Amino acid sequence: MLTKTLDAAIADPSMYADPGAYHELFAQLRKEDPVHWTEIEGFRPFWTVSKYNDILEIEKQGDKFINWPRLSLNSIADEERVRAGSGRGSTVSLRMLVNMDGAEHRAHRSITQSWFMPTNLRKLEAELADLAKEFVDRMEAVSGSCDFVKDVAVWYPLRVIMTILGVPREDDHRMLAWTKALLSSEDEEMAAGLRGVEARQAAIQEFFRYFGALSAKRRAEPKDDLASVIANAKVEGQAISDFETQSYYLIISTAGHDTTSSSSAGGLLALLQNPAELAKLRANPDLLPSAIEEIIRWVSPVTHFFRTATEDYVLRGKQIKAGDSLMMCYPSANRDEEIFPDPYTFKIDRTPNRHIAFGYGPHLCLGLNLARMELKALFKELLSRVDTIELAGDPAWIKATIVTGLKRLPIRYTTRKQAA
Ligand code: HEM
Repeated sequence: MLTKTLDAAIADPSMYADPGAYHELFAQLRKEDPVHWTEIEGFRPFWTVSKYNDILEIEKQGDKFINWPRLSLNSIADEERVRAGSGRGSTVSLRMLVNMDGAEHRAHRSITQSWFMPTNLRKLEAELADLAKEFVDRMEAVSGSCDFVKDVAVWYPLRVIMTILGVPREDDHRMLAWTKALLSSEDEEMAAGLRGVEARQAAIQEFFRYFGALSAKRRAEPKDDLASVIANAKVEGQAISDFETQSYYLIISTAGHDTTSSSSAGGLLALLQNPAELAKLRANPDLLPSAIEEIIRWVSPVTHFFRTATEDYVLRGKQIKAGDSLMMCYPSANRDEEIFPDPYTFKIDRTPNRHIAFGYGPHLCLGLNLARMELKALFKELLSRVDTIELAGDPAWIKATIVTGLKRLPIRYTTRKQAA
């Protein structure tokens, strides 16, 4: 029988910093109560949905399960603080793609959709390879050991996103600080100063000021970059509002950073903990694309998104009422034993591998091709340059309920150049 303690664990950021505990809890949920009514003190109740096929059923029906108004796990107190601060009577502080539904969502998504298509992204290939090289050069320069998270995994995807948004290098540090405040403010080590909703609101203000200035520049003088596409966007012939423009920059810069950063570090850890898989990949680099998919399934950095039912609906025998919200737990779906044989085994040549770490349906991750390219460029460079590589201490994970991942990954290595 599932208990209140289990419910409380679902909202506890520390549980997401302990992958063993997470997978134990969600294996129990998938087995005993896959669509689980969850009541936690201080939170509006919701259904925790832990199985792959149930999440697909929800995501496919964007008219019956919508993104507005509840998107992620926030306490009632935090929702009310946002409502008070928004000046718009809303518990959601932004107008981003992920908060939109139906025709409005389609129109806003189409602004950048073609930019994120593989044909357009191909022009970034050389730049990504150069960036990957630069970061592995840095590893080489610090001779033999580093914290892969702090030295590589955090900065490389950040620089990629900032490059496509046209943000200069000297601003990377502040961008990183604001992203951390927005997504990891529950972790005392990650958020300097302010915590929780105050940290998030302050970071949003900073992002908005910064991107307000950037979009003004790109309106006056458009360039061939994503920032100019967003700054000059029109929906039904009308320019989108400043608020929507800045929210758009914000979703690209935040959605594209921590997710890819966590996948790089989590992927390296998985390879180090599975030396036979690492050896297989080094012997056969053609396995890189399938290894990247397995890394993304394995890490599943986005822990959940919510949907709200627009009508009564029966899901796996449970009566969902119009207005109920449902938490779709992606990492759990990606370990669903009904879909993935040996789900707890890391196999770089897993086929098929239809993981849903990028979501599914109308909101399917817009940046998935870019994320794959980034990870491919980094692992290609890293694995071709290191001679030996191993863990040099205990890894540690971020305490955060929405995007999780490693915050420390000490490694020791020799590179081919050093060995020569
Ligand atoms: C491994 C890396 C990544 C993972 C695991 C990931 C995961 C996700 C997930 C789970 C969603 C929600 C999908 C749904 O509701 O069905 C999403 C949406 C989104 N992602 Fe990613 N993402 C990654 C990288 C990126 C990158 C690199 C970018 C852009 C630079 C990006 C931009 C977006 C955007 C804009 C959305 C909102 C799409 C919409 O609502 O229409 N993501 N991502």
